[in-house]
Amino acid sequence: MVRIAIRTVIVGLVIGYASALSVDKKTIQLPLKKVSTVTHARNIVARDAARLAQYKQKVAGSSNVEERQTGSAPVINEVFTYLAAVVVGDQTFDLIVDTGSSNTWVGATTKFVATSSAVNTGKSVEVTYGSGSFSGTEWTDTVSLNGITATGVSIGVAKTSSDFEGTDGIIGFGPEDLTEDTVSGVSEFPTFLQDLVAQGVIGETILGVQYAPPAGSEDEDTNGVLTLGGVDTTAFTGSITYTTAIDPWWGVDVSDFAFGSTSLGTATASAIVDTGTTLVYVPSSVYSKFLTASKGTLDEDTGLVKFTKAPTSNFSFVFGGTTFTLTPAQYLIPTAQYDNWGITGSDFYTFINDGGTEAPDTIIGFTFLEFYYSVFDTTNNRVGLAPNA
Ligand SMILES: *[C@@H]1O[C@H](CO)[C@@H](O)[C@H](O)[C@H]1NC(C)=O
Repeated sequence: MVRIAIRTVIVGLVIGYASALSVDKKTIQLPLKKVSTVTHARNIVARDAARLAQYKQKVAGSSNVEERQTGSAPVINEVFTYLAAVVVGDQTFDLIVDTGSSNTWVGATTKFVATSSAVNTGKSVEVTYGSGSFSGTEWTDTVSLNGITATGVSIGVAKTSSDFEGTDGIIGFGPEDLTEDTVSGVSEFPTFLQDLVAQGVIGETILGVQYAPPAGSEDEDTNGVLTLGGVDTTAFTGSITYTTAIDPWWGVDVSDFAFGSTSLGTATASAIVDTGTTLVYVPSSVYSKFLTASKGTLDEDTGLVKFTKAPTSNFSFVFGGTTFTLTPAQYLIPTAQYDNWGITGSDFYTFINDGGTEAPDTIIGFTFLEFYYSVFDTTNNRVGLAPNA
């Protein structure tokens, strides 16, 4: 009965998604909003580059990584991300939806005020994301998304944070492994999604992510839906292609990039499907062939690939034996969105960018995920993609 009552509330809240309402009983949906306060595209690129450098550093695990020099990455007080309204205790926080990290934490902007449900563990917590960091104290508290509630969820309460202005922190949907060594004296701890399953609120540790490309020139769109506990079968067409998740992130094997009928080569390392990255990164060798084939150039001002004439060929790659295609209308940043990207002028730009030569060199960021439904399935240790409905 409780379940039915909750679902009724959700139906009311996602009324704008009438087509997505027929969901598996075990799934729960909530709307997200995408916000942009970006003044210059170079800030989006710099933020992503710092995040990518952090991933590379984690893989290399040594001080001998070229990209490591981003310790001096600029602090960027700008937001270009998907946010979910998350209630902790009795406060609502706007948290970045991040499948590339696994700690959930608050307090970057709105300060946390402990209520009777909050328990201070006394342990310190610290996470560095490349694009920002936070440190503070780990608490447990009741956490809700649209009335979907788990109790005793491990959450970080930031004492200090950098580069999260305009947001309150992160809700981490990455694998549990990524919580390792973030909280003093604790090796790993369950994520919010795992707590929901353990407490019987949802059936399976599965997250479905439905993003949509921005409409017109909107800089604040309610254009995403998360499904917790399963997939929303109305959100995609055809079937979902799955591949085994590769640790430590939501890693997948991607191969055979192409521009039209021109092969751009194959990925050398696994790709990361990452809602916390904006752009799509491909290996340097693929990137340089892409520039040649598409007649694009690196625009030093924005850090994006620029075209004076819009390309007409599709960009594609193979994932799990299925070809995933972006048409020019999809991989070119819509001119109506230039203000939100901090782009001026009449040239064309793409979100496909240079992922470098060291692993990971391929990141499937949210600009791609706006065209493909994505599934992060801990229960079956796999990642899935399917064309948006
Ligand atoms: C580009 O991809 C779209 C969507 O998959 C497809 O309909 C179209 O035929 C492709 N264009 C070319 C030139 O292959």
